[in-house]
Amino acid sequence: MKKILLSLTLVAVIFTACNHSSKTKEMVKKDVFGTHNGKEVYLLTLTNKAGNVIRLTNFGARITWIEVPDKTGKKDNVAFGYDTFESTINGDPYFGAVIGRYANRIAKGKFTLDGVGYNTPLNDGPNTLHGGPAGWHSVVWNTEVLKDSKYPAVKFTYVSPDKEEGFPGTVNVAVVYTWTDNNEIVMDYTCSTDKKTVVNLTNHAYFNLHGAGNGDILDHELVIKAASFVPVDSTLIPSGEIRPVAGTPFDFTTPHTVGERIAENYDQLVYGKGYDHTFVLDNKEEVDATVYEPVSGRLMEVITDQPGVQFYCGNFLDGSMIGHGGKPYIYRSGLCLETGHYPDSPNHPDFPTTVLNPGETFKSTTIYRFSVK
Ligand code: GAL
Repeated sequence: MKKILLSLTLVAVIFTACNHSSKTKEMVKKDVFGTHNGKEVYLLTLTNKAGNVIRLTNFGARITWIEVPDKTGKKDNVAFGYDTFESTINGDPYFGAVIGRYANRIAKGKFTLDGVGYNTPLNDGPNTLHGGPAGWHSVVWNTEVLKDSKYPAVKFTYVSPDKEEGFPGTVNVAVVYTWTDNNEIVMDYTCSTDKKTVVNLTNHAYFNLHGAGNGDILDHELVIKAASFVPVDSTLIPSGEIRPVAGTPFDFTTPHTVGERIAENYDQLVYGKGYDHTFVLDNKEEVDATVYEPVSGRLMEVITDQPGVQFYCGNFLDGSMIGHGGKPYIYRSGLCLETGHYPDSPNHPDFPTTVLNPGETFKSTTIYRFSVK
């Protein structure tokens, strides 16, 4: 059902795209942001009909700016990022990036496919995090402005070589960002491989609906349509248990602020140093998660066809990252809703599979939609 709803959205986007060519050119502005490893890095400014702006860069296929109005019409950027390429490359590795080849953790950097063992770099204690230190967040993607789209749209592509960060197979990956007039960032991912491999893709944007750099997110009201979540050990690797959220501080099936139960003495909040867990999405309704910030009235909705979402509330932020406008990103000043598969799925045959075979195409869509209420 979920796949059908998202396919219909995609068909609608493509249909309108075909009906309205010409318009897009001025809606996507492409500026040089810097160079990295001999490749040009761009800053792409996408403006929709409502006059709202997002900015992307092909360094890590990132979202670096999302400027949307509050309930009085005042616009502010709600996404973490940096004003210059130099600060982007020296800053937090993940802000707004596409994470691959395997988003989230792989226990001890080891997994097996058809009896062959693979090792990936350990960059998070004993585990591999986010595809390894030189994962897809850190490479320069090719950039194509989709001129025939009604909405401003940019396609980033990358060819990940066989054995990159230890993963088997040459993988062709594409992500199309479309910024609709309804203030939706539609992210369409496609992946194929020439050898059996594992793939788990996400976007790692950090959001603060007060405006990025304006205090913490503990007052943001969250709903996650998930009846269960994936408990982890102290290194944030799943035990294999899928635990019902009912009666726990992980029950966001009705609205709760992020801060309301975060200090409870609950094993998973202790291991995660707060929320840093994958929720098993019910995938029954159009919208999978919502974040509402009552002062500005901003509402963000998350829609995905993926089986899970990692809710991370910035427990590792400490104010040392200075972002847009010189603002420090303090402890718990941003939250992430990283759609995707469960952590360490390659070592959990009972979790939804992340295996990608030659001849198959991985396709997935996630939407971040902004409005006010
Ligand atoms: C999240 C992860 C956190 C932390 C963060 C990056 O996806 O769950 O534990 O590693 O990325 O700082």
